[in-house]
Formats: sequence, structure tokens, C-alpha cells
Amino acid sequence: MSGKLMRAVQYDSYGGGADGLKFKGQRKYQLMKALVDIAGIKLDGSGPRMNILVTAASGGVGHYAVQLAKLDNTHVTGTCGARNIEFVKSLGADEVLDYKTPLGATLKSPSGKKYDVVVHCARGIPWSTFETNLSDTGKVIDLTPRPISMCTYVWKKLTFSKTQLLPLILIPKEDKELKLLVKLVKGS
Ligand SMILES: NC(=O)c1ccc[n+]([C@@H]2O[C@H](COP(=O)([O-])OP(=O)(O)OC[C@H]3O[C@@H](n4cnc5c(N)ncnc54)[C@H](OP(=O)(O)O)[C@@H]3O)[C@@H](O)[C@H]2O)c1
Repeated sequence: MSGKLMRAVQYDSYGGGADGLKFKGQRKYQLMKALVDIAGIKLDGSGPRMNILVTAASGGVGHYAVQLAKLDNTHVTGTCGARNIEFVKSLGADEVLDYKTPLGATLKSPSGKKYDVVVHCARGIPWSTFETNLSDTGKVIDLTPRPISMCTYVWKKLTFSKTQLLPLILIPKEDKELKLLVKLVKGS
């Protein structure tokens, strides 16, 4: 494998090396697809103005979601612990909530925005907390779904609700070219 390609592969934000490329890279690609296909984010910045909340924005999934969301014409609110507020701001978030404070626990945007999309990467937040903060057609993409999330998903569908809860499981898929690339990285 050429040194140039090797450097390109190693220089990734997906964990580096063959396994990082294979698993984390695939998951991140799927998250990007979900943000484009489900949330309607335009990666070239051509989308309409949208308000987005990312919970656990300092985490491995959340920090990536914030950066992807900011590629479009978005206002992004992130939640994280106090020690990571500056980090989440540095990713481009317009406002940050400390989830351990009373305001943070409500998920209310400090500037009063209603969220068009929530990328939910934290755990244990009930639908009712999201619902009061959503725009009329707001969607919650739930990366930490629990059995109750599935019930809410079905209930929303059956009642033709405009707001939605969409459980999302990122399952890495094998891809012929990626498999070959991983083999080359491992062999080099
Ligand atoms: N659906 C899928 O396919 C899929 C794929 C990958 C991961 N996940 C799930 O997604 C979740 C996040 O994964 P991750 O890899 O990003 O985890 P991670 O890197 O461990 O980050 C989690 C972060 O969440 C923050 N946090 C904890 N409770 C919070 C709350 N109530 N509100 C806001 N932030 C909170 C903490 O931030 P501070 O340190 O700032 O306090 C922590 O750093 C996990 O539950 C994981 O199982 C799902």
C-alpha cells in the first residue's frame, strides 16, 4: 500500500487504523446518512434554517452529530456536562446546556427555540421532555432506544402525529471496497 494512501487512512477521525475505519467509520457514515435522509440536513449548507438539539453532544456520537449539523444552515443546541461546555461550543454549537442543571434537564433552548430535529445520544430522557420543546413537525432521532421508545414510535404512527420519535440503530454493513481497504491497511 502506498505511503500516501496509508497516511490518508490513518488520518481519520474515526478512530484510526483498520478496525476504526471498518466499524466506527461505517457507523459514522450511517449517522451522516440518517441526518441527511431523516433530518433533511444538506451537507453543502443549502437547507432551510433548522433548529437542532444534540443530547450528549460531548460524546463519541454526539460530537460528530454537532459538526455534521453545523455544515447546514442550522442553529444547534447541545447538552453535556459542565466540564465539556467549551468543547461543545468549539465544535460549532450555538448554545450549550449543562444537563445537570434544572434548565438543562428541561432541554429548553436558552434562546427559546423549538427544535425541528433532536439527535438523541443520551439515555433516560422521556418523550414528554422532548415533546414540549419540539416544533409542530419536530422529529427525535433516538440513538438510545428503549422498549418504551418503540411503543412511542408505533403510537405516533397510529395517531398520524406530526411529531415523531424515530429509533435508530447503526449496524455496520460489509462493503466490498471498504473490506479491501481494511485488508490492505491490516497487511501494511
Ligand atoms: N443506536 C446506535 O446504533 C448507537 C451507536 C453508537 C452509540 N449508541 C449509544 O449512544 C449513546 C452515546 O454513545 P457515545 O459513544 O457517544 O457515548 P460516550 O462517548 O460515552 O459519551 C457519552 C456522554 O454523554 C454525556 N451524558 C451522559 N448523560 C447525559 C445526559 N443525560 N444528557 C446529556 N449528556 C449526557 C456525558 O457527557 P459529559 O462527560 O460531558 O458529562 C458523556 O461524555 C450510548 O448510550 C451508546 O450506547 C447507539
